[in-house]
Amino acid sequence: MKVVAVDQGTTGTKSYVYDADGRFTSVAGFEHAQVYPQPGWVEHDPDELLRHVTEAIAAAGEVDAIGIDNQGETVIAWDSATGRPIHNAIVWQDDRTKDVTARLKAEGAEELTQRVAGLPLDPYFSAAKLRWFIDHVPEAKQLLKEKRLRLGTSEAFFLARLTGHFVTDVTNASRTSLMSLDSFQWDSQLCDLFGVPVECLPEIRPSTGPFGEHRGVPVTASFVDQQAALFGHGCSGLGDVKITFGTGAFALAIAGAERLNGSRFGIVPTVAWQQMRDRPHFALEGGVYNAASAVNWARQLGLFSDLAEINAFDKPPAILRDLAFVPALSGLACPHWDRAASGMWIGLGLDTTRADLMQSLIEGVALRAAEVIAAMAELLPLSATVSVDGGMARNPYLLQVLADVTGRTIVVPSSTDLTALGTARMAMRGLGAARLPDMPPPASSVKPVGTYGPQARSRFATAITRARGWKEA
Ligand code: G3P
Repeated sequence: MKVVAVDQGTTGTKSYVYDADGRFTSVAGFEHAQVYPQPGWVEHDPDELLRHVTEAIAAAGEVDAIGIDNQGETVIAWDSATGRPIHNAIVWQDDRTKDVTARLKAEGAEELTQRVAGLPLDPYFSAAKLRWFIDHVPEAKQLLKEKRLRLGTSEAFFLARLTGHFVTDVTNASRTSLMSLDSFQWDSQLCDLFGVPVECLPEIRPSTGPFGEHRGVPVTASFVDQQAALFGHGCSGLGDVKITFGTGAFALAIAGAERLNGSRFGIVPTVAWQQMRDRPHFALEGGVYNAASAVNWARQLGLFSDLAEINAFDKPPAILRDLAFVPALSGLACPHWDRAASGMWIGLGLDTTRADLMQSLIEGVALRAAEVIAAMAELLPLSATVSVDGGMARNPYLLQVLADVTGRTIVVPSSTDLTALGTARMAMRGLGAARLPDMPPPASSVKPVGTYGPQARSRFATAITRARGWKEA
């Protein structure tokens, strides 16, 4: 048994072949253009993404099944008759709908989105972006009249073009604000609230297929990349938790068969996955919008040039020297949900060096991730270890701060691409495999040593307070 897993993420598309003996081999990797038409707007070209997905599959050669994971919340609109996208994809980071979600919030609609979809009103989630196509792309209105308008998260477009089926999976649907977490179907009240016609949306299916065939090969798994990473980390017990440090940092914890209400703590209940003939499993999710994006930004500014420079620092923790960085370069997600927050250094002095700035930046990302873990722990007993992956999981300084501030052991798995590994394993499940290959043992772990304690957390909490609401001032 051999499958190909395609990981279609925010910055690129990768594919791997995985076989029944657990061999996991990289076969393709592509980067795509990031389009920034206006400040706060982020788009991708759907045709470019689809081309990369198709080539990533082809690079695998002969396989028994295909698994796909995709950047969550990113949306595409297309014409059902031609399959042609009518606009660029609107990416999860894009905040063009922030006025819409703010207005709905002011009108009291968050009670409904929280109760039915489990989600706060924030431009991050897909619903207002889907409506944006109808309001701003003239062709969308025409297609709607002709019943040819298709709206979906990005994988619905890929699946439609690869297999001819207009479908999505329950994890992707759970990130839109349009699906009920009780019925796992599109909710008419939410569709009305956002003005998204339900007839334009795909059918919601479990995360394991069949999703149809691409060139004779069945697509047997499709789900959101963060959920794929959760599966790839081997998280399965209640409270097992992972953080993926990519563009943003996303923590997910296994929450079991019952939906928890996280709104009090700013934590989002979401669907972990649903395997065929099984009930959906829940997860708790909490995101930090800027992680590697903050590091890359600082590198472009010239604050450092080589990643090795930010792996260790000579001085004591910046936060305990009153220098804090709040990585709210795209606002704050969990648990604050504040798009008016801005990135901030506080505590600058004439003696502040570039290394100090970078030290506080790495600390800021770790402290934000720790805030998310703390909010999750209010709702669910979390395991004593946190499994991490992604580029920044290779930064020893970040790992030590995270271990200290969360008081948990940070485990670094040996596989460098757990997202694709999770997708490959899910694709095997979709193919009917009762037993999956053994997971490779973890590469290393980092224990708390107590350098950062409550004082660091409380200093950071103060910095967060100062960064909040700045853009409204
Ligand atoms: O919620 C957005 C997330 O799914 C994106 O993950 O790894 O593509 O940056 P990534």
